[in-house]
Amino acid sequence: MSFTIAIDGPAASGKGTIARQLAERYGFAHLDTGLLYRAVGRKMLDGIDPIEAAQALDVTGLDARELRGPDVAQAASKVAALPAVRAALVDVQRAFSRRSGGAVLDGRDIGTVICPEAEAKLFVIASAEVRAERRWRELVASGHEVTLQEVLADVLVRDARDMNRADAPLKAAEDATTLDTSKMAIEDAVAEAMAIVDAAR
Ligand code: C5P
Repeated sequence: MSFTIAIDGPAASGKGTIARQLAERYGFAHLDTGLLYRAVGRKMLDGIDPIEAAQALDVTGLDARELRGPDVAQAASKVAALPAVRAALVDVQRAFSRRSGGAVLDGRDIGTVICPEAEAKLFVIASAEVRAERRWRELVASGHEVTLQEVLADVLVRDARDMNRADAPLKAAEDATTLDTSKMAIEDAVAEAMAIVDAAR
């Protein structure tokens, strides 16, 4: 039996943590689809054509730690606006979503484009200030030297690019449940997400 949980939302909304924890609790496989775009963005920064990079991407060896920085995030959102890059990454995501043991995918267009038939859909949001502070703490903890103001600016630029692109823009699927994590502890957000998924099972 396959069961797909689609989780979308803007940067640092909490969707990654929720996706990881749901995958752990249900024993499902998890794919952070942002890593695919980050890997292509990294290649573009290295001078490689992003469309060719997406078509040749080896999705098995992606190292999240190497792809976390703000420069890679900006490059990711630029390459993510290219329809040919998105098209090259569709099949690998759909194949992952149909894994027999169940799958959780998080990104920007999972509920709308990649897995419109997903059994459970969440749209995770939080205020820009809260998201910037969370991302800033993560970046500082992993050794990046950035200010909160820089991270906020980065998040706002990326949100605008992701929401306004023509192909697969960031938006909630009509049948998604929105979860605002601005004032929630992560455990409470995960508990609420679980209740939504359980209701769909
Ligand atoms: O989720 P994360 O912040 O790692 O994603 C990096 C960038 O990749 C996003 O800003 C977005 O432009 C792009 N992305 C996307 N579609 C997805 C996942 C990520 O366009 N499903």
